[in-house]
Amino acid sequence: MRMVDIIQKKKSGLALTDEEIRFFVSGVVDGSIPDYQTSALLMAMCFVGMQAEEILSLTLSMVGSGETMNLSEIPGVKVDKHSTGGVGDKTTLVLAPLVAACGVPVAKMSGRGLGHTGGTIDKLESIPGFSTALTMSQFIHAVKTCGLAIAGQTGTLVPADKKLYALRDVTATISSIPLIAASIMSKKIASGADAIVLDVKVGSGSFMDTLDQASELARTMVRIGRDAGRKTVAVLTDMDQPLGYAIGNSLEVEEAIQVLRGSGPDDVRDLCLALGTEMLQLAGMGSTEACLEKLQDAIQSGAAIEKLKALVLSQGGDPSYIDHPEHLPKAKLCFPYHALFSGQIQRITSDHLGIASMLLGAGRRTKEEAIDPSAGILLIKKPGDNVSEGEVIAYLHSNNDKSLAEVTKLMDEAIVINTKKWTAQPLVLAVIA
Ligand code: URA
Repeated sequence: MRMVDIIQKKKSGLALTDEEIRFFVSGVVDGSIPDYQTSALLMAMCFVGMQAEEILSLTLSMVGSGETMNLSEIPGVKVDKHSTGGVGDKTTLVLAPLVAACGVPVAKMSGRGLGHTGGTIDKLESIPGFSTALTMSQFIHAVKTCGLAIAGQTGTLVPADKKLYALRDVTATISSIPLIAASIMSKKIASGADAIVLDVKVGSGSFMDTLDQASELARTMVRIGRDAGRKTVAVLTDMDQPLGYAIGNSLEVEEAIQVLRGSGPDDVRDLCLALGTEMLQLAGMGSTEACLEKLQDAIQSGAAIEKLKALVLSQGGDPSYIDHPEHLPKAKLCFPYHALFSGQIQRITSDHLGIASMLLGAGRRTKEEAIDPSAGILLIKKPGDNVSEGEVIAYLHSNNDKSLAEVTKLMDEAIVINTKKWTAQPLVLAVIA
């Protein structure tokens, strides 16, 4: 088999066979296929698209490119949750302890933030001492003893995705539904969960701008999950405005703690209850109403916040920060951002705020950059709120003021205030099962 023939075949609009896709993935991983041929095929896949069978072959070949987690030692249905990435998205910090407090084991592999989106691993590491670098046996032991564990993805899981993602990033081939679906689902399948809930974000802060695109991505991933023998549900959720009020690592941990204690922003709580209900249902915990009630009880009884403390302790962190989140890392500087006009806030565009937060130090532009756990943005107002010119809309937290002018310009662009009547958008747009 020759790579040039595979590229030619895809370029001509034909579907590749399972054997051809396996040849491609193994050649990428063992280095026998040069980057220029890999990039050429990725571009052809982007332009021509892929059939369902090809996407499944690609996903399973990627799963087979490295080690896979065997969670069979852990009793019960293991349910994983994945978000396609958003701004201010701290749902995993809430959902993992919440679902575990309802008796469903949570074995979660998460990522770091890149560009305008944050990552759960960075957020958790803002809790002093918390370690996300667990070996497979430590990870399984933690789930067995504590009911949940959250770890960074090990380098041995889906090595094909690492190579392909790095090339896609620099060849403008990220935004392809088949490639995104195979990339995400290969990591979820290799992580070993029996069931998967996907939170597919729609809007300015996400990979998918429109509901149509997001629905196609969701359907593609649900089909891969089903064909790979995993119960999979996708929930399409709005990411046109940041989730909650906090963007940035320790700021988001603090907001997640509020939600687990029964307060915090409505949108974060409602999304966590919607996703949590899907997770409990996939674990066989009963009807929608029964699952929702279990989640609400776990918050009200304090079981959910106790589970977060148990998670922090189990992974080397200091659980006293959960009782005293005011001791979490704090930035030295805090700049108020003021409303430019009087009126009603119509929009706060997620991607602008994600970039602004990154510039304040909360995120990284390249994989190698260090982040500042204390930096970020705390919104005081959200769309639908009335404001007067000069009123504080947000506080910008940072340890330096070098990006302040750029951040302020982004905030000016992101926040639309006028006198039109604002209409709320639903947070959960659709569920694809
Ligand atoms: N997230 C992933 O893991 N892969 C993609 O291709 C896009 C988003």
